[in-house]
Amino acid sequence: MKESSNLLFDLVLFGGTGDLAMRKLLPALYQLYRTSPFQSGTRIIAVGRSIVSRDTFLSRVRDKLKQHLPEASWDQVSWQQFAKHLHCVTIEADKTESYRELFPLLSDEQDRPRVFYLSTHSSLYTPIASSLGALDLITPQARVVLEKPIGRDLDSARAISGQMSNYFSEDQIYRIDHYLGKETVQNLLVLRFANPLFESLWNHHYIDHIQITISESIGVEGRGEFYEETGALRDIVQNHLLQLLCILAMEPPPNIEPDRIRDEKLKVLYALQPLQADDISRNVVRGQYIAGNVGGKLCPAYTEEEGVAEQSNIETFVAMRVLIDNMRWSGVPFYLRTGKRLPNRSCEIVVHFKDVPHWIFDAPRGQLMNNQLVITLQPDESITLRLCGKRLGPGIDVRTVDLNLNPKSRGNKRSADAYERLLLDVIKGDQTLFLRQDELEQAWRWIDPILADWDRSSSPPELYASGSWGPAGSTLLLAKDGRLWHEGVNT
Ligand code: BG6
Repeated sequence: MKESSNLLFDLVLFGGTGDLAMRKLLPALYQLYRTSPFQSGTRIIAVGRSIVSRDTFLSRVRDKLKQHLPEASWDQVSWQQFAKHLHCVTIEADKTESYRELFPLLSDEQDRPRVFYLSTHSSLYTPIASSLGALDLITPQARVVLEKPIGRDLDSARAISGQMSNYFSEDQIYRIDHYLGKETVQNLLVLRFANPLFESLWNHHYIDHIQITISESIGVEGRGEFYEETGALRDIVQNHLLQLLCILAMEPPPNIEPDRIRDEKLKVLYALQPLQADDISRNVVRGQYIAGNVGGKLCPAYTEEEGVAEQSNIETFVAMRVLIDNMRWSGVPFYLRTGKRLPNRSCEIVVHFKDVPHWIFDAPRGQLMNNQLVITLQPDESITLRLCGKRLGPGIDVRTVDLNLNPKSRGNKRSADAYERLLLDVIKGDQTLFLRQDELEQAWRWIDPILADWDRSSSPPELYASGSWGPAGSTLLLAKDGRLWHEGVNT
């Protein structure tokens, strides 16, 4: 990540003792501090409902940092310096009087960036904004970060937006989707738009289909209650998967100004073929994990997790076939898949190019010999182009050859974590990698009919064993089209 001058800001973290804060946000702030040390006076104020004391809070943060950071990133001196910037207050998010605790910390320094990070349930966004407004804590330099999922459908997302706009202007609202902050997503923009080699092939003439998979080996990890309200469609498909699809499918923007990129992503969302009634059962598979073995460990069924109803119909897996109705993508399926308790944690995009129209070699054409561009976002970032080459030796024997375009193998330094990059963008006021309201609404508009269909349906999700690649329906979804899921190097 580029070195930048020392940062000066205030960041108020609602949900400051929650899972996301401890697992991702505070570690990201610590890494940011190590790359761009904060000016003295910078304040990170964690807001929680039950913070006992600053010492207890700091010791918990230290433990979590050690647990979640790569070992090489931890150092005691940096921690001690970083900890000087950490404060904490106890606030009941829906009780305006309790916000008075913030006054002593925020009454001065009105001119520096003031970030309100709302890492709470989205039903609390409006009460938080209205209390901040009532107490005059929203300065012209203030900005608010809204975690996904924002709302649970189009209507609730709109209601939240309407309320937020009473307190913040659109250029103060940062709707975060941390997948957009991953290094490879930005690299994808360069790969597509700086290389005529790819851009000229990036259409239905040369691409057969595209697969995007976000798999996790973990289950709901103590977030059973949240998951019961959310499910994989709202948690991952409505945001992370659709955003990746937009970046892959969008037209070249005229420049990389935030709104020009967002305009192009929005057009992709408008062009998604709507799924209605019968289309949904044909094109969308939902699953739920039962007990099974993941990485040698026996894991319980979803319905045995804490906070989950015994008869829950909530999906922990979704696979879907999506079409984009425009000139570039007509007839090219995008297969999206996500699930918990799958064999590994990975995020992979596989662009399958069409076969050559005529095979001239004597050696038989292998089944998987079409060119593939495999873009891996995690666990390790890599870009691999799979081509056909000749096997060394006499005669012509064709085999596949992998060309590694991995930036890391060229000796690059540590790449910033997604949240680290996005938090820096918020502090600097760059909205490029954040969603605009119209994108959010259009994504919900497309998802809503699926949610409604599942609500009406009496059939439960298909069960799959923990540690497998999801229910049989997911394999069938591609098999019907004569295709297979790409099971990558990590499997
Ligand atoms: C979050 C979801 O947005 O993304 C979680 O709410 C999921 O359920 C997480 O575990 C995955 O993020 P990452 O970066 O670890 O792939």
